[in-house]
Amino acid sequence: MSSALVILAAGKGTRMNSDMPKVLHPIAQAPMLVHAMRAGRALSPERTVIVAGHGAEAVTKAALAEDDGAQVVLQTEQLGTAHAVDQARTALDGFEGDVVVLYGDTPFIRPETLERMIAARAENDLVILGFEAADPARYGRLVMNGDRLERIVEFKDANEAERAITFCNSGLLACDASTLFDLIAAVGNDNASGEYYLTDVVELARARDLNVTAVACDEAETLGVNSRADLAQADAVFQAASRGALLEQGVTLMAPETVYLAADTVIGRDTVIEPNVVFGPGVTVESGAQIRAFSHLEGCHVSRGAVVGPYARLRPGTELAEDAKVGNFVEIKNAEIAEGAKVNHLSYVGDASIGAKSNIGAGTITCNYDGFMKHRTEIGEGVFIGSNTMLVAPVSVGDGAMTATGTVVTRNVEPDALAVARAKQDNKPGYAKKLFSMLRKKKENLSKGS
Ligand code: UD1
Ligand code: MG
Repeated sequence: MSSALVILAAGKGTRMNSDMPKVLHPIAQAPMLVHAMRAGRALSPERTVIVAGHGAEAVTKAALAEDDGAQVVLQTEQLGTAHAVDQARTALDGFEGDVVVLYGDTPFIRPETLERMIAARAENDLVILGFEAADPARYGRLVMNGDRLERIVEFKDANEAERAITFCNSGLLACDASTLFDLIAAVGNDNASGEYYLTDVVELARARDLNVTAVACDEAETLGVNSRADLAQADAVFQAASRGALLEQGVTLMAPETVYLAADTVIGRDTVIEPNVVFGPGVTVESGAQIRAFSHLEGCHVSRGAVVGPYARLRPGTELAEDAKVGNFVEIKNAEIAEGAKVNHLSYVGDASIGAKSNIGAGTITCNYDGFMKHRTEIGEGVFIGSNTMLVAPVSVGDGAMTATGTVVTRNVEPDALAVARAKQDNKPGYAKKLFSMLRKKKENLSKGS
C-alpha cells in the first residue's frame, strides 16, 4: 500500500518568541521539520506535502534542502488543523493510498510507530496515534469504547468527565486519502476555538459506520515543542539518546554528557571522543580515530586512525585521510590532508591539499583570501613546511620540497627545492647591553620627573 505524508508546519509558535518559524528551530542542529521528514521517510512515501504558513519561504527552503521531491503548499490563514490538511488536497490529486498526517513540531516520532499505524490501517478506516499522558493538560482526549475510538474532545470543549481521561491525542493520523478528504470536507468550526478541528474526522467517520481505532505510543515520542525551554529540553533528550546509541555501537565517549552531537553525526567503532567535543552537521568519523578534547567539527570526514585536537577546528570540506594528525589551535577548511600528514600546531589551512606524509610547521598560514576571491594552495607529498610559513595562494609546493622557517611563499616551489624568503640575520655585538642601559636610564629620569 502506498502512502503520502502531510506535515503540518504553518503555525507561528507564538511562545517561541522568535522571528523564525517554529518548525525551523533546530534540535541537534537540524530543523524540527527535518526530524519529522526523516521519521516519515521510513514509510517510503510516494508524496510528501508540507503545509507552510508563517515564514513559508524559509520553511520551503529547508524542506526542499532535505527532500527536493517534497511539495510545499501554503495555508495563508491558520484556521485549524483540518483546514491545514485540506490545503494538501490538490497536491495529492490522483494519489491513491494512505495519508499519514504528522506535525512539523513533533520531532521524536519513531519510524516504527508510523509503521504500526499503517499496519493498524489494515483493519481500520482511520487510525489515530494516542498516548497515555502523565499530565494531560490541554491535549485532546480520546474517548474510547473498548478498542474503538468514538471521538476526540478538545480540552476547551470537554466536560469534567472527559477532562479526566488521560489517553490523549498526539495529532497524528493515518487514513485512506479519498476517505480523509471526504471527512475533512464535512468538518465545521462550531466549537470553543472557532477552528476547523482535524480531530472532528473521528466522530464524522463513526457516523458513517467506519472503523476507527487508536494506536498508542510512548509519550516521549509525541513531545511537542512550544517554547525555547521545550526546545532545550528536546535537544537534551535527543543528545542523551544519540550518545547512548553511539556507546552501544562501540564508540568511547570519555565524558558522554559533555559531547554535543548533530542529528546526522556518524562515528565508527573504537573511535575515542574525549570530553567537550562539539559536532556540527555533516560529520563522519571512521573507526579507530581519536577526537581529542575541546575540538569542534562540522561538514568533514575523518578517516581511520586520524587524530584531531585537542582544541582543533575542522570546518566544512575538510577531509582527513588515514593517520592524519591535526593538533591544537589548528583550523582546517575545505582541504584534503592526505595519509599520515601532520598539521600539529597553531595553523590555518584553507582551500588546500596536503600530500601524504607532509609536515606543516607551527604557525603556518595558507593566505587563501585576497579580499575578493579564494585561492588554492597545493602541497605535494613528503614536504616539510617550516614554522611560520605564509603560503600566498594560488601557490604550489612540489613533492619533497622544503620551506625555511618564516618564509613567505609567493611563487611555486618545484619538487625537492628549498624555498627561503626572509631577511638575512645581522648580529651586532654588545648592542643589546647598550640598549638595555639606555632604556633603564630613560625610565629612571622619567620617574624622577614625576
Ligand atoms: C492539536 C490537537 C489536539 C492534540 C494536540 C497534540 C486539533 C484540533 N487538536 O491541538 O487534539 O492533543 O494537537 O499536540 O487538531 N497547524 C497548522 N495550521 C493550522 C493549525 C495548526 O499548520 O491552521 C499546525 C501547527 O503548526 C502545529 C500543528 O498543526 O504543528 C498542531 O497545531 P496546534 O495549534 O499546536 O494544535 P493544538 O491546539 O496543540
Ligand atoms: Mg500544539
